[in-house]
Amino acid sequence: MKTIIYYFTGTGNSLAAAKKIAAVLGDCELVPIASLHKTSGDIVPPAERVGIVYPLYFSGLPVMVAGFARRLDLSHADYTFSVVTLGGAGGSAGLQQLDSILRKRQGHGLDAGFSVTMPGNYILMYSSPTGKKQIEILAWADEQVAALTGPVARCEKRALPSSLISHVLHTLIYPWFTCHVHTDDRKFSVNDKCTSCGTCAAICPAGNIEMVQGRPVWKHHCELCCGCIHICPVQAIQAGAKTEKRVRYRNPSVSITDLKQRPEEKP
Ligand SMILES: Cc1cc2nc3c(=O)[nH]c(=O)nc-3n(C[C@H](O)[C@H](O)[C@H](O)COP(=O)(O)O)c2cc1C
Repeated sequence: MKTIIYYFTGTGNSLAAAKKIAAVLGDCELVPIASLHKTSGDIVPPAERVGIVYPLYFSGLPVMVAGFARRLDLSHADYTFSVVTLGGAGGSAGLQQLDSILRKRQGHGLDAGFSVTMPGNYILMYSSPTGKKQIEILAWADEQVAALTGPVARCEKRALPSSLISHVLHTLIYPWFTCHVHTDDRKFSVNDKCTSCGTCAAICPAGNIEMVQGRPVWKHHCELCCGCIHICPVQAIQAGAKTEKRVRYRNPSVSITDLKQRPEEKP
């Protein structure tokens, strides 16, 4: 059975999970959602089993993932599953949101949905875990991914998890997020450590960064994935004074080249 997994990622957690699932399923194609962002029309997956993997943002979907789901035509798919990666709790709200978008479009939604807890990366609010703590979280994430691959390989249908607290959080904070997300890059700046390497522009899934006279300029269609801040090799990108001291994070099984998700940035 052929599988296609669509993924969105800022710092590699969701890609790492997608890769691990693909390795178990075999005959599986990984497609960055960012590579389809500038295209138009319906997206018809050329596979019987379809997966969608992404991070949880403000108890909901990244805006680009929501837009992608609205274009997805699953009429030829036999089985659709989703995996949401997150730094805390409340993944059910993201899964429910995705399910509802798919249902509105084609009458049926996800056959199964899973949450995988991974290191949190919202550097505007906190530092990502480091050292032993990070190793423990990643080991637990591997266990969670291993536990979901069996049901997905067998195309098992599962009721989606649901939680009242996650639903309330989604209702309270997600609308605020969607209003601000694209222009929150106004908080971003670059300091004199910048070497003009262009990594930030190359890995931005939204193509939101242009190098102008050797410096990144943000174009206000940000997804707030925080990839530019985390992946900059010299930590030259900040979002206010607080991020200067916060640690940077990249999932250790994902390379900077892997994070180049738009076709124009592929080597
Ligand atoms: C803008 C933003 C919002 C986030 N919101 C949540 C959240 O509501 N709940 C949560 O548990 N984690 C949240 N996180 C953490 C990410 O969901 C988590 O670290 C995810 O695994 C990152 O995946 P990635 O490495 O594929 O980008 C947020 C991260 C960002 C950047």
